[in-house]
Amino acid sequence: MGIHFDEKKRLFHLYSNTTSYILKTTDDGDLIHLFWGEKLRDPDIEYTRRSSLRAFSPSTHESNVDLSYDTMPMEYPFSGTGDFRNSGFVIRYENGATATELKYKRHSISKGKAALKGLPATYTESVEEAESLLIEMEDHLTGIVVELQYAIFNKADAICRSVRLMNHSQQPVFIESAMSCSLDFPDSGFDMLQLSGSWTRERHVHKRRLQPGSQSIESKRGVSSHMQNPFIALMRPDATEFQGDCYGISLVYSGNFKAEAEVEQFGTTRVTMGINTFNFSWKLNPEESFQTPEAVLVFSSKGLNGLSSVYHQLYRERLCRGKFRDKTRPVLVNNWEATYFDFDETKLLDIAKVARDLGIELFVLDDGWFGKRDEDNSSLGDWFEDRRKLPEGLAGLGKKIRDLGLDLGLWVEPEMISKNSELYKEHPDWCLHIPERRKTESRNQLVLDLSRAEVCDFLIETLSKVFSSTNLSYVKWDMNRNLTEVFSVAYPADQQGEIAHRYVLGLYRVLETLVSNFPNILFESCSGGGGRFDPGMLYYMPQTWASDDTDAIERLKIQHGTSIVYPPITMGSHVSAVPNHQVHRTTPLLTRLHTSMCGNFGFELDLEQLEAREKELVIQHIEIYKDIRALIQFGDFYRLSSPFEDNLTAWMFVNKEQSEAALFYCQVLAQPHAPQQIIRLQGLNGNKDYKLLNYDSFFEAMGYKEIYGGDALMKAGFRITPLMGDFQSALLRFKG
Ligand code: DGJ
Repeated sequence: MGIHFDEKKRLFHLYSNTTSYILKTTDDGDLIHLFWGEKLRDPDIEYTRRSSLRAFSPSTHESNVDLSYDTMPMEYPFSGTGDFRNSGFVIRYENGATATELKYKRHSISKGKAALKGLPATYTESVEEAESLLIEMEDHLTGIVVELQYAIFNKADAICRSVRLMNHSQQPVFIESAMSCSLDFPDSGFDMLQLSGSWTRERHVHKRRLQPGSQSIESKRGVSSHMQNPFIALMRPDATEFQGDCYGISLVYSGNFKAEAEVEQFGTTRVTMGINTFNFSWKLNPEESFQTPEAVLVFSSKGLNGLSSVYHQLYRERLCRGKFRDKTRPVLVNNWEATYFDFDETKLLDIAKVARDLGIELFVLDDGWFGKRDEDNSSLGDWFEDRRKLPEGLAGLGKKIRDLGLDLGLWVEPEMISKNSELYKEHPDWCLHIPERRKTESRNQLVLDLSRAEVCDFLIETLSKVFSSTNLSYVKWDMNRNLTEVFSVAYPADQQGEIAHRYVLGLYRVLETLVSNFPNILFESCSGGGGRFDPGMLYYMPQTWASDDTDAIERLKIQHGTSIVYPPITMGSHVSAVPNHQVHRTTPLLTRLHTSMCGNFGFELDLEQLEAREKELVIQHIEIYKDIRALIQFGDFYRLSSPFEDNLTAWMFVNKEQSEAALFYCQVLAQPHAPQQIIRLQGLNGNKDYKLLNYDSFFEAMGYKEIYGGDALMKAGFRITPLMGDFQSALLRFKG
């Protein structure tokens, strides 16, 4: 792994064990992109990217009339001076002009990876873990400097890119667009994969063949959103889960974003990703700089699963932080779907007592504990306990919960304010709003203006009091609406285009302060389920409530899609009651247990309502989960069969030592006279034998055996056990 600069050829070669990323400066000082893909021994491949003059492409170089920015593979493209494709960035100068021409100025290569000020990013723990490259580009006329930032990890085949724009001119300028990365591919023979959906239907896998013109995904909602995740992959059409070239681009950011693939007239593809230009404009005063979020680029020639495994390891180990990063996570019960707002201390303790008997470790008190909140129309902002429901306050409840042997967790939704609240009476202007215009409500609430330092400070102070007075072990940080009237009364007109991004920066500051001051609290982020399941939030909170949809069958698609980028340890997944509250489907308890056990396991139902034999099943499976949770949470994850393509979903987990594996499969609908299904396992050691721990008289009667060769399980496969009825599943364990 490393970064090599060939001085003679002015060629930069960033390489990992399997990947090469190559760029070079030309005689004219242009920075051109040569290659990103499978590792090359000889990086001198400029011959592949020669451009010639084409009709309607302007001659942009005095040295050679055949050269045009419009046809050159640009590393960080600029606009207005000949390149008609999408731009890496756009600056509006004081005189109104928006044309820029960047030329190479200098570069430096160093060990390690610098943090991005105020923004989440992947990190290193020692300088040996990564190498970094900074390339400074300059617009001679205006003094605008663009610093291209690269880091390549030693152990993960990932390249991180971000950009810093600096104003060395005498006048303020306006950044109208600043992408985190731009990538010029020499062809367009790709499918674009995206993770799209809706509330309760997050991160479904969608694929489309690239077409001439632009294809994009974006969020304009102020958050990364339920609808689009800040990730795309370009896949060769013949790529599968386990073979073929795949390129992933994931943005470490929680606000408005856009990812766009533009296929231009000669069939090349430019991919850009970064903060959405929608309503964005940033005033940059002389000598100020602007830092873009980080884009994490992963190439894999081993298919989509190969791509996912790089993201999983990197995000688990070098994006998530804190004491819980390497710790197995507790099995929890959350009272939301059990009680909604209708609870008192007695009811909570009744649930907690059953939870304790079942082997659950953490009790989470959800919405409704504060102010006068009996419905979703009041009290956000009033972060003091409701003594009607909790006569001895949170502290009293916490003590009783702990006396039962459980830890206490708490739900908060700090970014919001209800009109019907003490806080609103005191600070009616603390929400995002445009004076004189209606303040649009969503779920009966307004959004606090986190672009203002005093609002952020209020949150830090108020939440710190709640967290420290209650001795909390866990916090669920929710956010239940998107941003409207994105305007701040604290900023002048020419800075209103900054507010959406300033909101995110304010949120990051609040989170950074709280997670550093409360290192013993496990934080889980949430936004109406998975509305902000993004790498930015994972930097502060190492797990996310994956979706408000707790139906086991819906969860197959949600968790499958989520796993394209995010590891199972980051996905909160809970067993809930039937008929399911979101889709009214009735699924077997065993299937609900199995599906939830494939993530960060928990419960979200009135445990008192379980029948005795159901409790037995729950006890048994909590025990199994505790036994395999290190495998589930830290093992390698394999998608064997997709709910988007098949009636059968199959996933697999293998530990690092290849001595333990778990195989989960679930059949959506029963089939009459069903064909036999063989599934080929992955990730085992071919030379090892594996014992099927589930082996019993049922397996014996069905003709299975107890010991299997690892090679046989991977090459000949495993025969799916007969699943009788709809929505049936199995969780098999192998030990080698
Ligand atoms: C949305 C979350 O996703 C739910 O789990 C629950 O916490 C509710 N908000 C509470 O209002």
